[in-house]
Amino acid sequence: MLFRGWGDAVDGRWPDVATVVDHVGVGHLVVTRHSLVRQVLADPVAFRPDNALDAVTPLPVAALRVLAGHRFRLPPTLANNGGASHPEIRGIVADALHPTRVAAQRPWLTGLVRERVARLRATLDAGVPVDLYADLAADLPLLVLARLVELPDAPVGAVKEFARAALELFWAPLDEPRQRALAAEVGRFHTVLRGFAATGGGLAARLRAAGHSPDVVVGALFFLLVAGQETTSQFLTLLLHRLTGEPTVRAGLRAGSVAVADVVEEGLRLEPPIVTWRRVAAVDATLGGTAVPAGTSVVLWLARAGRDPEVVLAPDEFRPGQRGSRRHLAFGAGAHRCVGAQLARLEAAVVVAEATPLLDGVRVVRPPWCPDNLTFRMPDAFVVARR
Ligand code: HEM
Repeated sequence: MLFRGWGDAVDGRWPDVATVVDHVGVGHLVVTRHSLVRQVLADPVAFRPDNALDAVTPLPVAALRVLAGHRFRLPPTLANNGGASHPEIRGIVADALHPTRVAAQRPWLTGLVRERVARLRATLDAGVPVDLYADLAADLPLLVLARLVELPDAPVGAVKEFARAALELFWAPLDEPRQRALAAEVGRFHTVLRGFAATGGGLAARLRAAGHSPDVVVGALFFLLVAGQETTSQFLTLLLHRLTGEPTVRAGLRAGSVAVADVVEEGLRLEPPIVTWRRVAAVDATLGGTAVPAGTSVVLWLARAGRDPEVVLAPDEFRPGQRGSRRHLAFGAGAHRCVGAQLARLEAAVVVAEATPLLDGVRVVRPPWCPDNLTFRMPDAFVVARR
């Protein structure tokens, strides 16, 4: 979903590109067509990533003061870095998430998910509802990430709270008191991260050894602790929810006629946790015949591009393996394409393989609710019970 109000602004009919004015009066060019979204992502000279982490509700002085009190700084490191340092920082992160290292997590992760699923099954059998967000999906990606980038015994609750606060602070429509509260939460965690960035091993040590400043080390860890875990736990929740309403897909998985990997891709296409991503026009450009003046905020509607009928045979149907299923842009494209894609896919594959059988014979007591947010879906509790 985009900001809820935007659908009304264009009367529900979305052209390939449309200018929409947001809640603070800023105009954004929303791009919906797959080929145009790709065009923007593939051209980092005309469309730079500098605005990727800008707050959509500008931060008022009071919130900026709170952040400054924590010496909060977010220099360009990864997603918002269109500069010369990007390839090197990205390379160091990509090494930590190398496909071999990611694949090596599979046995451990499978064991953990299996254990959780057995517990959840016993609870359901006893007639007690379970929350598949809190009890299965919420912390799994963080636990895996902590092993890969060598975080100290990650204080799971604190990281989750901070990450969700950051997604709200930077991408939600907000009032000032809420911005101040979120700034305090994000600022507190930034202080903790600074300590770790200065002395921690693993990824932090490798960034330091490559000569990056303390601000850059903190900035990279800050982004990774949000992007590297919150996205995936949201996706796992959204995908499991979707699968409760897809009995034919579940039957195919049971029978072995539907591949787990195809379910994951179709899930990424139809239920991406990141629905939009931003770029800023660096020069006067055109997109599908529309003039785009330099400085325009370009909102790439990744979720909509995944349902482009020019690319996918049955755009709104969950048909694993269908033509175009894998051509979604859930992970972006080009120089900034998600470096964690392999890891997210592995985590989702393990959860689909191990947890989908749980969904047979359950009813949804409470579907996950998603707050208004430009970019992240942020589902909350997803409660099911035996039928
Ligand atoms: C389902 C889960 C995930 C989704 C949908 C997702 C999506 C995205 C998207 C849309 C981008 C921006 C791409 C662009 O600008 O072209 C991105 C960037 C990034 N993601 Fe992911 N992501 C996921 C999981 C992860 C994980 C697990 C990690 C790491 C552990 C990760 C790390 C990153 C990093 C570091 C970047 C910035 C890359 C760069 O600028 O060079 N993501 N991701």
